[in-house]
Amino acid sequence: MEKTTDQRAEVLDGARIAEEIKREVAAEVVRLQQESNVRPCLATVRVGDDPASTIYVRNKVLACEALGLRSEPHVLAAETTTEHLLDLVGTLNKRDDVDGILVQLPLPPGVDELRVIEAIDPAKDVDGIHPINVGRLALGQPGLVPCTPAGIIELLERSGVAISGMNACVVGRSNIVGRPMSQLLLQRNATITICHSRTRDLAAMTRQADILIVAIGRAALVRGEHIKPGAAVVDVGMNKVTDEGEARALFGDDAAKRVEIIKRRGYTLVGDVHPAEVEGVAGRLTPVPRGVGPLTIAMLMQNTVKAARMRRGIKVTGDEQE
Ligand code: GUN
Repeated sequence: MEKTTDQRAEVLDGARIAEEIKREVAAEVVRLQQESNVRPCLATVRVGDDPASTIYVRNKVLACEALGLRSEPHVLAAETTTEHLLDLVGTLNKRDDVDGILVQLPLPPGVDELRVIEAIDPAKDVDGIHPINVGRLALGQPGLVPCTPAGIIELLERSGVAISGMNACVVGRSNIVGRPMSQLLLQRNATITICHSRTRDLAAMTRQADILIVAIGRAALVRGEHIKPGAAVVDVGMNKVTDEGEARALFGDDAAKRVEIIKRRGYTLVGDVHPAEVEGVAGRLTPVPRGVGPLTIAMLMQNTVKAARMRRGIKVTGDEQE
């Protein structure tokens, strides 16, 4: 889609599509209960009291409650050892009433994150980060897929963004977003470029992209010059802005509202995309907040229900996931 720079990009409405997915999951939970007497259960594990992790896990537990899933939150002290965490994961693996295990990352520096991830039963790995699930995704086999990239695919497909044959560029190569995102786009026949902190000419790469996914964790790194006119742009970043002058430069027409939020709360959120600049060039753009964030939680709920079904060999009609 070509566009002139005085237009604003259409909003890719992650929050609306997350609500749609959550309604579907809630209906599936009712069906599972009625037909198979199964109520899916998500065990969350948080270690320490990182404020962001505390909010994320709380939102996951609240989503379980809202959708009729059972949740079982475990909170461990920051000084918890790897061995203790491995014990807990081992117990949760064995319990038949636990369908999904989510260990909130990052873990404190003393804990061996890889050993903990590898200890999770792949059938309960609702984050899709166990090497078995990562391998299945790379091979195009069915399995549990990381929630954020899975949610972005739902967003694109349900918003009518064509993927097959398109140039897709993923900025960021994290295990939880960038790499699985690339795999999912590749499976849908996009031509993929993966960019990262060592990419020499980022703008030259991103400007080729019909679909641009940005998950690099740097506030407003992607500017107007990075965007192909009319491209669909998905911003996975969440960065705090505390400076009112910076907010004025970043948010264009929305600046007054954002400055108001800073005065009230001390900060406002910006993604990895410069909203005022990119809005003028992109065809479609996710907002921050209320873009990708709500989709991640919706897909976590979907993965938990999927795990509950798969573990018991319960088939569902219209299982669209890889
Ligand atoms: N920390 C930030 N995002 C995530 C996520 O999607 N899953 C887990 N387990 N930890 C996270």
